[in-house]
Amino acid sequence: MDSIRIQGGICLQGKARIQGSKNASLPVLAATLLVGEGSYIGNCPRIADVHSMVSLLKSLGCAVYWQETGIVVDSSNVGKREMPKEAVRGMRSSLCLLGALLGRCGEVIMEYPGGCVIGERPIDLHMSALAQMGVEFTQTDGKIRAAANSLHGACIDLPFPSVGATENIILAGVAAEGETILTGAAREPEILTLSRFLCRCGACIEGAGSSRVVIHGGKRLYGADFWVPADRIVAGTYLFGCIGAGGNVFLEHAPAEEMEAVLLTAEQMGGHVCVSEEGIYVQAPGRPFPVDLVTAPYPGFPTDLQSAVLAAEARGMGCTHIEETIFENRFRIVEDLRKMGACIEQSDARHVTVQGVETLRGARLTAGELRGGAALVAAGVMAQGASFVGGCSYIYRGYENICRDFRELGARVTSV
Ligand code: UD1
Repeated sequence: MDSIRIQGGICLQGKARIQGSKNASLPVLAATLLVGEGSYIGNCPRIADVHSMVSLLKSLGCAVYWQETGIVVDSSNVGKREMPKEAVRGMRSSLCLLGALLGRCGEVIMEYPGGCVIGERPIDLHMSALAQMGVEFTQTDGKIRAAANSLHGACIDLPFPSVGATENIILAGVAAEGETILTGAAREPEILTLSRFLCRCGACIEGAGSSRVVIHGGKRLYGADFWVPADRIVAGTYLFGCIGAGGNVFLEHAPAEEMEAVLLTAEQMGGHVCVSEEGIYVQAPGRPFPVDLVTAPYPGFPTDLQSAVLAAEARGMGCTHIEETIFENRFRIVEDLRKMGACIEQSDARHVTVQGVETLRGARLTAGELRGGAALVAAGVMAQGASFVGGCSYIYRGYENICRDFRELGARVTSV
């Protein structure tokens, strides 16, 4: 079931329930390591990355099992400090276990996570921040050993608001002795979610969600129940799918309060967006209006939705410029969109110009990464005729069931 077949060209109409957030559930699951008791994390999406995180937690000694609506993690018996190679290589977000395990055991041995298809993704910001908190890094046999005799608070200024580094600093800071003052922190909603979970467990964190976070470390933590919010990126994927295909859809539980820049862009593209407590209603009259889009750290437009806008604007009514400022290799779907008849000029690694065409046509496509792959499925929904997307295991890393969701929105999409 690695491929998806789409019979496109139909206006969307319907309602889809938005799954729990991948980027919020992963650091929250990592944080359960710090607790040393049982926690229940509800609304975890059943996606490949969460399954990988569950395996990793088990390999470290946690008792972990799924319940109908979430995951129970008991971290009373964490013994191992070495993370299995495949898990670290396969999932960048296993990196948030670095801060959590350091906080719990004072030592971590792991492979260097390495680059990935959307860009280099170094970990220098994580390492220099943790070094300021007393962590020493040594390298042996291609592995990194991180160890702290006494993890202590520090004043850390991040030169770039890295989401993962901010999470690691918070996770280590909660366990450290004394106060950590972090400036230049990432402001993504997932940071706030992680802090809310930790505070529910007894931690004291101020300012999460702003660029200055203060962590009063060393508090005794207890297990807690927690509910993961809905996934703003999954909601945005279907939102721009609707803007590109036309139609009316309701995205149940979509977290509108975390999607200001996304909803603004959707409106600039001609969508009518109506927000209620239950979710987001979108009405898209026809081909999208062109926009100038620049991705940026939150509250700017998320890089994870750049390819969804690119796909929709491939059939826009004019000329769209997109600048990608976060990752250096995030226009991998351009070649596949061209196969569908899209007219896209890529001037360098970070800039494309899209001259919208009236009709995209179905084609054989290949997902090369998670968000780009989902955008190709959306493009197939917008195009006339049949499309076939291969390599969909990337998509299943982040989407519980993209075929079911698009079907509920009226599209003809099946996994084959
Ligand atoms: C997280 C999200 C990912 C999203 C990204 C940016 C998760 C699991 N993943 O990834 O979906 O696309 O935020 O919103 O939450 N960088 C460095 N050195 C470092 C760390 C990062 O140079 O030590 C650079 C990266 O190469 C990249 C930029 O900073 O160019 C942003 O990375 P970061 O915010 O850390 O993203 P992730 O946490 O990896």
